[in-house]
Amino acid sequence: SKLYRKAPTSFASGIQSSVSARYASSGKSPSTEKQDKYVFYEEIMSRRRDQARRSVLIQVQSENSSYELYDYCSQFGKVQEMHHYKIGDNLSFILIEFNLLSDVEAINSASTHIQVDQNLPVTSPFLWFRVVPNRVRKDFVDKDIPLKVINANVASAPDDMNMLLFKAESVSDQMTLLHNATKLNETGTRLRFLSARQIELCLSGMFSEVTVLPFGSSVNGCGKLGSDLDLVLQMHPHLKENVQSRLVYYTKASSNPDRAQTQKVMEIIANIIDHFLPGISSVKKILHARVPIIKFNQTLTNLECDLSMSNTTSIYMSELLYLYGELDWRVRPLIFTVRSWARYMKLTNNYPGHWITNFSLTLLVLFYLQQKQILPSLQKLIELADKNDVRIADGDVNCTFLRDISKLPQASSRNEDDLETLLTDFFIYYSNFDFTTKSISLNAGMPLPKPAESTVYIHNPFEPGLNVAKNINTQEMERLKIEARNAAWLFCSAADNNANDWGLLSLFNQKIELNVKPIRLNHTNRMVELTALFSKSKTVDGVEKHSKYTQS
Ligand code: CTP
Ligand code: MG
Repeated sequence: SKLYRKAPTSFASGIQSSVSARYASSGKSPSTEKQDKYVFYEEIMSRRRDQARRSVLIQVQSENSSYELYDYCSQFGKVQEMHHYKIGDNLSFILIEFNLLSDVEAINSASTHIQVDQNLPVTSPFLWFRVVPNRVRKDFVDKDIPLKVINANVASAPDDMNMLLFKAESVSDQMTLLHNATKLNETGTRLRFLSARQIELCLSGMFSEVTVLPFGSSVNGCGKLGSDLDLVLQMHPHLKENVQSRLVYYTKASSNPDRAQTQKVMEIIANIIDHFLPGISSVKKILHARVPIIKFNQTLTNLECDLSMSNTTSIYMSELLYLYGELDWRVRPLIFTVRSWARYMKLTNNYPGHWITNFSLTLLVLFYLQQKQILPSLQKLIELADKNDVRIADGDVNCTFLRDISKLPQASSRNEDDLETLLTDFFIYYSNFDFTTKSISLNAGMPLPKPAESTVYIHNPFEPGLNVAKNINTQEMERLKIEARNAAWLFCSAADNNANDWGLLSLFNQKIELNVKPIRLNHTNRMVELTALFSKSKTVDGVEKHSKYTQS
């Protein structure tokens, strides 16, 4: 593919105004839309990690430095790709991927430290490009450089997101737009893997097998621009005792039991990264949580990070969510919309509490899609697994399931609902769900009798005895059901063609200030259908008496 391109004269030219050109899906109608070739999760992880090993991040004066930087770096090896992004108005960075690991080694040997009497001379993949006074300027006109992205958005949804949604043609279109405009992009993904690499490199002198892997929404396909980076550190991921070897390393005995040992090690690591690693700041140790974590900011990649240790189960959970997202093109736009809705309705929060988390919401969406026969149960994936799929995590957690989705038998009848229908039915399904007696089981792919007292019970897919939603209290569950019901009713009554807050804008309580008429599909038939559905289910937990739409 032709990745190389000439740097345009205007660096803002990456921003186009056309909605369809920027964020629309592949242009195929949803029913004919096919997934690109399926890539195994482990293969993606391995490719991304390899890419990070061959990458460095360089702060520059502005994107205009890219020619000079390219010219300078090319003496050390072949520059494969360059990605430019900014933090705020003033800080400009270029992420460079080299062809070979040895190119990065050459860069490292050629780079220098300054003011070593004041600064600790740490070597890391984070550098800056010095301005040399009175240098002879080369003429770079017409030079092809592999500058892939200029001013990549690595932080948040685009400013004109609401206008994009307003101009869309249908709710389904809005959902696709929302997904495409807010999902993690290529530059953002690379920065996440490079941030992991920085910590790995820092510890690799002592622990030669150490890995730091991104997991959670950064890699499971549910990640949006600006979401946190979850990292897991493993000191010896696949190390096996080599009985052939006669030489054995001397090591220090660890006197503490597992958990205390982990806390001790994490405390030390937190201090190391805090003191030595450039860009890392605001380090907080939360070591007494069920899963102890170190929280920190990586200011050079603009990421808030949560670092845990061991925790292999979460890696396989990310793989499972990734796999479900790959099975049908509608899964991720639906998850994105539901997560955005929950954020706007303040059903979710950035900090933990008695409210639902994004992870629980994601499981609710997947479970609902199982009810719609769009996704298979986990039990089905387990039955189809073969010996290559066997994974046992953290001692005894069985995370075995089919990894090769091409082996999944085709369903005899396929659900072809569009995104709008799925979204509306999602709200109806959960506003009517009997959380008091039933639990959500992705393993069974159907509701089960609730096994324990808890307001909401969502079985952890790999450890069904654990409740992922244990934190939710009655008040928050009621709010969730009320807002789900309101949302469903909103779609029933959303037929005002002149509204400046139609569809998702209305769902998110957002309004457009301009007097532009949207073009969109008629909702009337759907409205009749929904009204009939609601008339069957008016007495769920007294929800309807709070609903602002039940009178309509
Ligand atoms: N996880 C889990 N069990 C839980 C909570 C989390 O296995 N009870 C794992 C999941 O793989 C989850 C990951 O930890 O994806 C990270 O959790 P979290 O950051 O809370 O969720 P994300 O999916 O990353 O969503 P967000 O974008 O809100 O960070
Ligand atoms: Mg996360």
